[in-house]
Amino acid sequence: MKAIVFESKTGNTKSYAEILGQKTGLPVYHHKEASKHLNKQDEIIYMGWLFASSVKGYKKAAENYNVKAVCGVGMRRACEEALKDMVERNQISDTIAFYLQGGYDVNKLNGIYKFLMKMMSKVILKEIEKKESKTDEDLETIDMINNGRSLVREENLAPILEWLNKAS
Ligand SMILES: Cc1cc2nc3c(=O)[nH]c(=O)nc-3n(C[C@H](O)[C@H](O)[C@H](O)COP(=O)(O)O)c2cc1C
Repeated sequence: MKAIVFESKTGNTKSYAEILGQKTGLPVYHHKEASKHLNKQDEIIYMGWLFASSVKGYKKAAENYNVKAVCGVGMRRACEEALKDMVERNQISDTIAFYLQGGYDVNKLNGIYKFLMKMMSKVILKEIEKKESKTDEDLETIDMINNGRSLVREENLAPILEWLNKAS
């Protein structure tokens, strides 16, 4: 494995990439800068934030590098369904995929991203309001939308580290 390559809008994916870099000793590059350091078809781990279910930059990364693992970072909690949805929507095949929970902070967004997420947040909050009893995840989502939160945790990287250990 040559490197970890990432795209991040508000810093959560960057944090995961940097922690993974520290844990593995692999160099970490922003996607924009990666071609200065890597050759075409070098083996990489790609990490991208989720934008309307799409792992930002993954398609391009897969054209240029040998993506051995792809990791999407979104605002929902990690679960089988989140991973399955990501794999299907991004047509990920022949590459192991991981889903990680990042965070959300409207104040770190601008332009069209801020506009879209403000609309999406209203829909999410309305859906939660309708519920008779709220789950822990619902309360976490309300807090994240209203106050801005990063839920990046080092321990969430354990499955990726386990896979890397087995793969090497
Ligand atoms: C316009 C927009 C669309 C988003 N769509 C999704 C989505 O489809 N699924 C998801 O889980 N998170 C979605 N998010 C939330 C981000 O993926 C989440 O905040 C992530 O942690 C951002 O990573 P970053 O801090 O590295 O930019 C969206 C955020 C924005 C701004």
